[in-house]
Amino acid sequence: MSLYQATASAPVNIACIKYWGKRDTKLILPTNSSLSVTLDQDHLRSTTTSRADPSFSEDKLWLNGKLDEIKPGGRLWTCISEMKRMRKEVEDQKPNEPKLSAMHVHICSHNNFPTAAGLASSASGFAALVSSLAALYKLPASPSTLSLIARQGSGSACRSLFGGFVAWEMGSSPDGSDSLAVEVAPRDHWPEIHALICVVSDDKKGTSSTSGMQRTVETSALLQHRIKHVVPERMRAISAAIKEKNFDAFARITMQDSNQFHAVALDTDPPIFYMNDVSRAIIALVTEYNRVSVEAGGKLKAAYTYDAGPNAVIYTPQENVKEIVDMVVKYFPQAQPFKDPFGLFKGAGVQGGVVE
Ligand code: DP6
Repeated sequence: MSLYQATASAPVNIACIKYWGKRDTKLILPTNSSLSVTLDQDHLRSTTTSRADPSFSEDKLWLNGKLDEIKPGGRLWTCISEMKRMRKEVEDQKPNEPKLSAMHVHICSHNNFPTAAGLASSASGFAALVSSLAALYKLPASPSTLSLIARQGSGSACRSLFGGFVAWEMGSSPDGSDSLAVEVAPRDHWPEIHALICVVSDDKKGTSSTSGMQRTVETSALLQHRIKHVVPERMRAISAAIKEKNFDAFARITMQDSNQFHAVALDTDPPIFYMNDVSRAIIALVTEYNRVSVEAGGKLKAAYTYDAGPNAVIYTPQENVKEIVDMVVKYFPQAQPFKDPFGLFKGAGVQGGVVE
């Protein structure tokens, strides 16, 4: 008897140009393109195993050991159905292939980072899900093609199909066929860049990305300005900065875009606050650190960015990592390293970070 099973894993990605707003909520088509860095260490990954078996009576998925519901028409259901449809196309062309598309699947997914770190896991989770089904079904699909499916699980997940520096091109087709992830540069193009993750709070966020961004689309005039007049130029400029390894430009754009994303959250009715006082204190610290460098005739040395929560991600070239870690520990004395393989800091108030 054959065993049809495959395992794949995918890492978290952190956006420098933020995705915030959908023009189609079912297909998950964004109102603007976005760009991220995929974190490449062994921590901060989702690993997923999928198995197809004729004896299974329904599709099932366990997330971190807990059975999750696969609602018909929901995001998980859509991704699994789309992958089965692609498998069916393979089977139609190669009649000797086993009919896996007709079997139910059991899927087990694990995040190797503590949920307590307060980091979004939907991006790595859906990317790993789609990758494991692609391996199970032996699909001859490129990462960009798979990103079309992962996108329908969670928008930001499409970018985790690639390592390195990744753009999600918003596309213009109503069916979403050109709204996909593309590689801007591989990780080894600019290995000096590191990400330091400062866990400010591990509380579950008050307003989810999905509902928050929808409210922004419905109520924020600033979002319309951002979509039309800001993001297209930023996408061009940050892609050029990455290709030229220009950290000064990369950092400036990353911080501007984080600030504008939180400004559109504030411009939403009712307003959404993702950052807290500690987040703002970290912004002040990075700003001061950069000011000292620039006033001494140097360039920007670090860039902060915040997603839909209070935790900071600081991008910096390797040479500054130690200095920044020391600075965070000095100004946030509660911060201390986690005693676990993730290299996270843990403490009251500010918890330190993962160095990627
Ligand atoms: C602030 O991808 O979680 O992290 O598509 O509704 O699942 P859904 O939203 P999600 O939103 C991520 C928003 C963000 C910015 C980003 O990652 O680009």
